[in-house]
Amino acid sequence: MAMQTHAGDPGAFAGFDLHRVPSPCFVVDEARLEQNLRVLADIQARSGATVLCALKAFSMWSLAPLVSRYLSGVCASGLWEARLGREHYGGIVETYSAGYKADEMAQIIALSDHIIFNTPAAKTRFLPMIAESGRDIHVGLRFNPGLPMGEDAKYDPAAPGSRLGTPLEQIDAQALEGVDGLHMHTLCEQDLEPMLAIWDHIAPRIRTLAPHLKWINFGGGHHITRADYDREGLIAFLQRVSAETGLHCYLEPGEAVALDCGILVGEVLDVVENDGPNAILDISATCHMPDVIEAPYRPALLGEDGPVLVRLGGPSCLAGDVIGRYAFAAPPQIGSRIAFLDQAHYSMVKTTTFNGVRLPAIAIWNSETDALRVIREFDYQDFKGRLS
Ligand SMILES: Cc1ncc(COP(=O)(O)O)c(C=O)c1O
Repeated sequence: MAMQTHAGDPGAFAGFDLHRVPSPCFVVDEARLEQNLRVLADIQARSGATVLCALKAFSMWSLAPLVSRYLSGVCASGLWEARLGREHYGGIVETYSAGYKADEMAQIIALSDHIIFNTPAAKTRFLPMIAESGRDIHVGLRFNPGLPMGEDAKYDPAAPGSRLGTPLEQIDAQALEGVDGLHMHTLCEQDLEPMLAIWDHIAPRIRTLAPHLKWINFGGGHHITRADYDREGLIAFLQRVSAETGLHCYLEPGEAVALDCGILVGEVLDVVENDGPNAILDISATCHMPDVIEAPYRPALLGEDGPVLVRLGGPSCLAGDVIGRYAFAAPPQIGSRIAFLDQAHYSMVKTTTFNGVRLPAIAIWNSETDALRVIREFDYQDFKGRLS
């Protein structure tokens, strides 16, 4: 069963002429991005918490100046995202990785303001390097709240046996030596209620540990910019945590930053009749939207409507390179354009060139001014450069 995404609102893309860009192409609406950023900045201002942008979800650095105007910095998954954060974004660079390579640590220390470790052992191993650097680094430890809240264990870092974060019951005063803050991340596209349930579960222990600490980071997965998210409730929750524990709160959403901000435009290359029409696109699930297969999920299609059911699939050799079955008004014609919704996050950052399939171009559109810029097109050298 494919997961249903909560997003998929066409917004201003309903009026976008898909022939204005090359195909395939990610088109990101900077006006919609700014709307999301305003919502997050408002949470930040009214709750007193600090909100960072998770680069793993959305690292379109050409829009870094816009992101940095509203948010307090970025959260990076390792050395290269930390470097991208430092080179292009303003504010805090926070780095968390489940495992750090010793030969990368000096650079990570030089680039980061917060470094979060997965285990007390990793923290103990690298603390001397941090001290020697003379940099004023906030050291964090990721804990695992041990309360699974997700629909699917694959996307739930609190699932039994998880490698992500040290079980909270193992964290004592000794584990917190040299530590400034605690970090958790277990949510995925979720409302406020699961966060409140996790807090009820962990609060007694966090209150005991709080006197040793300065902050707590509640990770990402909060679907804050979705229209029905309880934002007032989130503000009240963050204020309550700070009041009860004296800790400063951090959030590091990724998906919520770029929710419903982008589409992936593609073109029909051919149609194969086999138990109904199969349209072959220049968009590949495996190369361009791997979560479609990995999750799996069915991305929403712009303007889907009509009596003709058509399977949409990619040009690659993979039999399972199928995006899904969609309703069309008429059988799609070769050269006709289609667009999948909500593709700004977790698609652009995950593309590959399997089969030598072309990477989608990247365009920025402003739905308020209608200005359009194609900022990046990829060619043979991008494919070849990943191989040797
Ligand atoms: C540690 C951490 N922080 C933040 C995020 C961002 O989550 P989301 O994009 O769901 O908000 C993730 C996502 O996997 C994560 O692992």
